[in-house]
Amino acid sequence: MATKWVIKDKKKAIYWPSEKMKKKANMSDASIYKKALNNPKKFWSEKALEALDWSKKWNKVYESKPPFFKWFLGGKLNASYNCIDRHVENGNGDKEAIIWIPEPTNEKPVVLTYKDLLEKVSRFANVLKSFGVKKGDRVGIYLPMVSEVQIALLACARIGAVHGVVFSAFSAESLNDRLNDANAKVLITANGYYRKGKLLDLKKKADQGAKGSPVKKVIVIKRGEVKTKMSKGRDYWFHELMEKADPECKPAEMNSESPLFILYTSGTTGKPKGVIHDTGGYLTYAYWTSKWIFDLHDDDVFWCTADVGWITGHTYACYGPLACGATQVIYEGAPNYPDWSRFWKIVEENQVSVFYTAPTAIRMFAKQGVEFVKKHNLNSLRVLGSVGEPIDKDAWMWYFNHIGNKRCPIVDTWWQTETGGIQISALPGIGPFIPTVAGRPFPGTNFVILDESRKEVKKNEGGYLIQKPPFAPGMLRGVWGNPKRYEKTYFSDYGNKLYFTSDGAKYFDKNNIRVTGRVDDTMKVAGHRLTTGELEDAIATYEHVSECAVVPEPDKIRGQVPVAFVVLKGVKESEKITEDIIKQVIEEIGPTAKPKQIIFVNELPKTRSGKIMRRILKKLVINEPIGNTMTLQNPESIADLKKKTNYKRK
Ligand code: PRX
Repeated sequence: MATKWVIKDKKKAIYWPSEKMKKKANMSDASIYKKALNNPKKFWSEKALEALDWSKKWNKVYESKPPFFKWFLGGKLNASYNCIDRHVENGNGDKEAIIWIPEPTNEKPVVLTYKDLLEKVSRFANVLKSFGVKKGDRVGIYLPMVSEVQIALLACARIGAVHGVVFSAFSAESLNDRLNDANAKVLITANGYYRKGKLLDLKKKADQGAKGSPVKKVIVIKRGEVKTKMSKGRDYWFHELMEKADPECKPAEMNSESPLFILYTSGTTGKPKGVIHDTGGYLTYAYWTSKWIFDLHDDDVFWCTADVGWITGHTYACYGPLACGATQVIYEGAPNYPDWSRFWKIVEENQVSVFYTAPTAIRMFAKQGVEFVKKHNLNSLRVLGSVGEPIDKDAWMWYFNHIGNKRCPIVDTWWQTETGGIQISALPGIGPFIPTVAGRPFPGTNFVILDESRKEVKKNEGGYLIQKPPFAPGMLRGVWGNPKRYEKTYFSDYGNKLYFTSDGAKYFDKNNIRVTGRVDDTMKVAGHRLTTGELEDAIATYEHVSECAVVPEPDKIRGQVPVAFVVLKGVKESEKITEDIIKQVIEEIGPTAKPKQIIFVNELPKTRSGKIMRRILKKLVINEPIGNTMTLQNPESIADLKKKTNYKRK
């Protein structure tokens, strides 16, 4: 019988850590919350020293010039040294750092020990240097989950270059926008990748994306026999460069506040914003959240299923676990290849003990039925995690019952690209674990839920989730090239001393928080963040579109899906136009953004000042009363809209 890590409260659907879990956990003392909150600067100062190797200690722990703030000023360190070298120096060079599982089942996993990682990262850092990449330069990364992903990120970190990863399913246009915005001179990509049994071409998209951008050199990882066009003088094969490169590279000494990476995310306008994360604060935060929330021990095998294109892939499939010296599984492909039991096969074969995925994936698995799960022994699992969107009770219970076999705590982790690491969650050694309740602000972070008049809400009343200073060390330090946007997005609704998360929330009890979802024009499609603005921009560039509005529609599996209301000009609606618009969105953003439905309407509902009333469209797609239409400029538009959204009522 496998160990029970969790026990049920007899009266309620609430779970607590078992005595065994409390004993095993890295953190099981609930007084930590109060202690950290009493003096967060002291707490983080101690924690930064304990977690990382600094080549020079800071002389000032925190500085605030609202809305800007800094941590560990004057401190120096290198992120790649902290993720690799020190583990090798401490005698753990032979420990497995990464177990990479290819999608094709006839290929063997690639195992990289910390020693292997050191050699490969050093070689690649020298390659980047030989291409003229210097401290502070930006390097674009357009990679799927190939076995070289962490090597690419850490090689940039080793020489102090700032990486900017672009999700490989994003379009050439998205890549081009981001390379231009970051002014990246080097791009790292792959010739192809496997998805659901097919070898897809990535290089072609990378070429289109690099065209007209500042990129001068492209490094191509060979992942399969795809016919690849290499431009002489610009494109180089990774394996050829690596062979010739020196296997030693001294890590660059970086300021704690030096940017480690930029990661683009959707903002409320069409143009994505480059969220900046620093080195010392980010890594300290990544380390402690990995250590306490995933309760990483020396013998754990951690698997975070996120792609490196997202912040979750940065923090919990690279920096966090590696800084902790953990062993992690990385899987290249689709969860349903060759069938829906693939994930559980990987868990069993690699004895995964901590597993972290998204509610969308859980709902997908639940839909397929438990037979796929039952084929495998999942007794190695100890902690389960969820991320990316609110997890509904059904998905939570299915995850708990069928994957955790009622033995494992579920940490429902709330955070954002901007927060760099998890900020609200239960801790496995403290609990409680409650379906739909993310839990408690991480020790050393401080949250309140306020209403519009900035008053704190009472239990179970809805409000806005706000972070109070000092802001956690993992928080973003700005928006690349656009400090005004940083201020306007995060530090204007509640003044420049409070961080507005754009999420709605409720107090479940005096400690625990239930996050209810975004309150801005952002939607979460299969956990991916998209804004109505970027979708509308993509649709509006189609020549026959006069105007459009996009709203989310709830979806049983994907959480939300986009629905577009479109007014055409000069042509009549047709299937061809619908297909063209959908194609346009896929080309401009990527398949994640594919609208579920294009609804052609005569007019969009507008206020007297001409603003589109998305609120009304949202109500129409969920088939709820639309409320007062008195303030509309064109109330007559409603009859047509109701008729067109009739499909919802059938
Ligand atoms: O709305 C929240 C939701 O995801 C948003 C952040 O999206 P992104 O920057 O793409 O980062 C996702 C991965 C960290 C948040 O503003 N969100 C994320 N996790 C949760 C969540 N909503 C509820 N519960 C969560 N556990």
